[in-house]
Amino acid sequence: MRTIKWGIIGTGSISTSFAKALTQMEYTELTAVASRDLTKAKEFAGKFGNPKAYGSYEELAQDTEIDVIYIGTPHTEHKPNAELCIKNKKAVLCEKPFTLNGKEAKYLIDLAKEHKVFLMEAMWTKFLPVTKKVKEWLAMEMIGKVKKLQVGFGFTVPYDESSRLYNYDLAGGALLDAGVYPITYAVHLMEKLPVQVFSTGVFLKNGVDEQNCVLFKFDNDVLATISSAINAEVGQEAIIIGEKGRIIIKNFWNADKASVYDKDGKEIETFVESGRINGYEFEAYEVNECIRNSKLESDMIPLQDTLDIMKIMDGIRADWGLKYRQEME
Ligand SMILES: NC(=O)c1ccc[n+]([C@@H]2O[C@H](COP(=O)([O-])OP(=O)(O)OC[C@H]3O[C@@H](n4cnc5c(N)ncnc54)[C@H](OP(=O)(O)O)[C@@H]3O)[C@@H](O)[C@H]2O)c1
Repeated sequence: MRTIKWGIIGTGSISTSFAKALTQMEYTELTAVASRDLTKAKEFAGKFGNPKAYGSYEELAQDTEIDVIYIGTPHTEHKPNAELCIKNKKAVLCEKPFTLNGKEAKYLIDLAKEHKVFLMEAMWTKFLPVTKKVKEWLAMEMIGKVKKLQVGFGFTVPYDESSRLYNYDLAGGALLDAGVYPITYAVHLMEKLPVQVFSTGVFLKNGVDEQNCVLFKFDNDVLATISSAINAEVGQEAIIIGEKGRIIIKNFWNADKASVYDKDGKEIETFVESGRINGYEFEAYEVNECIRNSKLESDMIPLQDTLDIMKIMDGIRADWGLKYRQEME
């Protein structure tokens, strides 16, 4: 099988997790890493078997040995970083949220089509075996007709204006960073877009949302209550309520277990995933396969789905009046 050669842009927290997965996968090579600072690139490379280390993202994008580049930078950088890679004919796996807004997402999607380059959002939750099992259970109507979804993703990070999560200039806030997971999850499970979206948030002085609640109504009368927070433990669980029971997925965004219960709360079936590296390998397998098969997008995350999610979040932010600096004309 053809070994797929990866490059990584950015040497922060998520790039470290992703590199851990890549370097333990078969037929997959971490070929080069890039930082804005060569010392950091070398330090990062040293932790992962010393692939090539570059002190600029441009040098990595121009490396002819690389098949695909993973972008692990803050969301404000995704558009310029992906643009650089695409224009250098490199396939791209770009972290979530894909971009700041739908306009930037559309730009990248059109650019990738123009340059005939593979592009995918790194929404790894969709590739987890548990997520696939939950979709099977829904298709089999294990809980009957679905009536309601409850999905939350929240955590507490102490307030620090310089932190990516709270920083206005880095498009901080709960919706883009955390809310993208439950919003994507609800749409992925329902396999359709909501027909009505209501929301509200709580905002910091610099304008970013520290927590929010979103309500979706789908055309089949399913409701979804969605919450996300960066300073409150609003839960990380998904509950799918049906006529005949419910499915509970703890830590749905990174789940390795899910259970089905009947109406009386009796457990009917549980699925437990085993043998993962750290969970990021599942999306990387998909990218490898797409590249081996010369595909320009993944069937699991079509680019239209990514664009739809960005547009939903645009609509929510428009209702709140939250615009980031990069969006000011
Ligand atoms: N899939 C997941 O589970 C997951 C988890 C966490 C975060 N994320 C997403 O991944 C992205 C990165 O998050 P992270 O937590 O890894 O962030 P992080 O630890 O702050 O790392 C981001 C890296 O981006 C690079 N960078 C480029 N321009 C930057 C700028 N203007 N300011 C700060 N850093 C800049 C830096 O690398 P160099 O200095 O080496 O250039 C930095 O180390 C975000 O979009 C986030 O939403 C995904």
